[in-house]
Amino acid sequence: MKDLYTKIKESVDYINSKTEIKPNIGLILGSGLGVLADEIENPIKIKYDEIPNFPVSTVEGHAGQLVIGNLQGKTVVAMQGRFHYYEGYSMEMITFPVRVMKELGVETIFVTNAAGGANKDFKPGDLMIIQDHINLSGNNPLIGPNDNRIGTRFPDMSSAYTKEYVELAKKCADKLNIKVQEGVYAFFSGPTYETPAEVRMARVLGADAVGMSTAPEVIVASHSKLKVVGISCITNMAAGILDQPLNHEEVIETTQKVQGEFLALVKTIVSEL
Ligand code: HPA
Repeated sequence: MKDLYTKIKESVDYINSKTEIKPNIGLILGSGLGVLADEIENPIKIKYDEIPNFPVSTVEGHAGQLVIGNLQGKTVVAMQGRFHYYEGYSMEMITFPVRVMKELGVETIFVTNAAGGANKDFKPGDLMIIQDHINLSGNNPLIGPNDNRIGTRFPDMSSAYTKEYVELAKKCADKLNIKVQEGVYAFFSGPTYETPAEVRMARVLGADAVGMSTAPEVIVASHSKLKVVGISCITNMAAGILDQPLNHEEVIETTQKVQGEFLALVKTIVSEL
């Protein structure tokens, strides 16, 4: 069986055979937020199923391709559609693209997601700059033998979300007159939405938002010594906060409503990275 390092190299060689562009920033676009990739200039699009060793996305609303090109004068590689643990992939598989981005030359990962608001001061449509996360999945993408060529056995997570970028993101929001929240993202495996009791637990633990992605990628970004900036789109209040059921349609509807602000904020941050 090929080792992880060999698999990464094969994917990178394939991508490099399709474009001369060397991306500096990697964008991971969450549910309903993939439109950002449509703003990339001179795009080279590579479908996930073409890339050796890449998993293929199954969830609705996720296109499943890398888009490489220019955004705000920077070279970027965007994942239009990400992989989720709940789809049945291993943690190693869902974080594989982050490893490929690192090997392509990326220095900063920009993660975005749709999330439920656990903080009662939040409202649907808010954008939240991610300060930190809590991994409640009971799993970790780094479990297993460690390859020292890729990263250290015990990575430091004390500033997994780069502090200067949290500040930068707030400044960019100010400049755009967008009111942003700031907070902690709790990662649940999904695919069920959380129970009200789980949401109460997450709040007690210090979470402001709950969701089904991002933490695995950020763990691997720390392992890969990548800088990280993250934004959650609060698409709904998490279960039990309001007396109403949750559904995926509401999530997509809210991302569409705030698309303008979201795009403006992400683009402005990218221009300053
Ligand atoms: N919980 C988990 N994931 C989500 C939610 C939620 O309430 N909203 C959007 N993604």
